Amino acid sequence: MKVRKAVIPAAGLGTRVLPATKSMPKEMLPIVDKPAIQYIVEEAVRSGITDILVITNRGKGLIEDHFDRAPELEAKLTGANKEYMYHEVVDIARLANIYFVRQKETKGLGHAVSCARSFVGDEPFAVLYGDDVIIGEDPACAQLIRAYEEFGKGVVGVKEVSEEAIQKYSSLKVEPVRERVFHCTDMVEKPSKEEIMSLYSILGRCVLPPDIFDLIDATPPGAGGEIQLTDAMCALARSQGMIAVDFTGKRYDMGNKLGIMQASVEVALQHPEIGEDFRAYLKELAASL
Ligand code: UTP
Repeated sequence: MKVRKAVIPAAGLGTRVLPATKSMPKEMLPIVDKPAIQYIVEEAVRSGITDILVITNRGKGLIEDHFDRAPELEAKLTGANKEYMYHEVVDIARLANIYFVRQKETKGLGHAVSCARSFVGDEPFAVLYGDDVIIGEDPACAQLIRAYEEFGKGVVGVKEVSEEAIQKYSSLKVEPVRERVFHCTDMVEKPSKEEIMSLYSILGRCVLPPDIFDLIDATPPGAGGEIQLTDAMCALARSQGMIAVDFTGKRYDMGNKLGIMQASVEVALQHPEIGEDFRAYLKELAASL
C-alpha cells in the first residue's frame, strides 16, 4: 500500500531550549529564514506525502498560522511589487493538506502518535519528529518509504552515534541486509551501558503499519514516565521484525542549542542570498578565535 499520510509530533515542551521556547514552539525556531517545521513538511511532500497531521498543544497556534494564508501580508507584497516573496508566502499554505490535533497532556512521543489514530485509519504512515530537520538530496522520509514498500515491514531511520550519545537515544539490535539496510528485531529506549545492543539509534523518522496503535495502547509509561514510541516499536520489532535504514542526509537536532547553531551556520553557508558574505564573515571570525 502506498504511504501518503504523515504525522509530525510537535507537542513537546522543548525544555532544553528554554527560554526561547517559553512561548514559542521549538518547531518554529528559524534556520536562517524558514522555521524548522517547514523543512520537515517540505521533506514529507518531496517524499510523496499528500496528507499531514501535526500534533500540537496549547501555545502552538503559531504553527497553524504559518501554514495558513495571510491575506493582509499577501496584499502588501503584491502592492509593493514583491512578487517573489508573495509566491514564497502563498506557497507555504499550498504544500499539502495539513491538519492539526492537540495532544491534551504531554505524555510522551508514543502518546502523541496515538492522537493520530483516526487520521491514519487503516494505512501505513510516516512519522517525522518535529524537532529533527534532515537536509539531503534524497529526502530521508522517501528512503524509508521505499524500504517499507519493498519489505512490507515497519521501518526506522537510524544513524550510528557515540557510546555517550546513545544513552540519551535508543539502541537497536540489527543484522545487515545490504548497504545501509538492516533487519531489526529488538530495541531499547535510553539504554544503560549494559543494555546497548549496537550504536545504531533511531533518529527522527519512521514508517509504521497501523498495528502500532494497539501496541501503543498496550505500552505502559517507560523512560521518564512517558509513553515511549520506541517501546511500542520494540514490541513490533520483536513480533513482526522491522527494517532499519541508515539514511543519507545531514540531521540537525533542533531540540538542543548546539544542533540549532549547527543548522543555522551550515544552511547559511549554502544560502543563495547571504551564503557568500556569511562565508567571508565566518573565515574572518574563525581566524580570530
Ligand atoms: P523530545 O523528547 O525531544 O521533545 O521529543 P521535548 O519533550 O520537547 O524535549 P525536552 O527534553 O523538553 O527539550 C521528540 C519529539 O516528540 C514530540 C516533540 O515535540 C518532538 O518533536 N513530543 C514529545 C510530543 O509531541 N509529545 C510529547 O508528549 C513528547
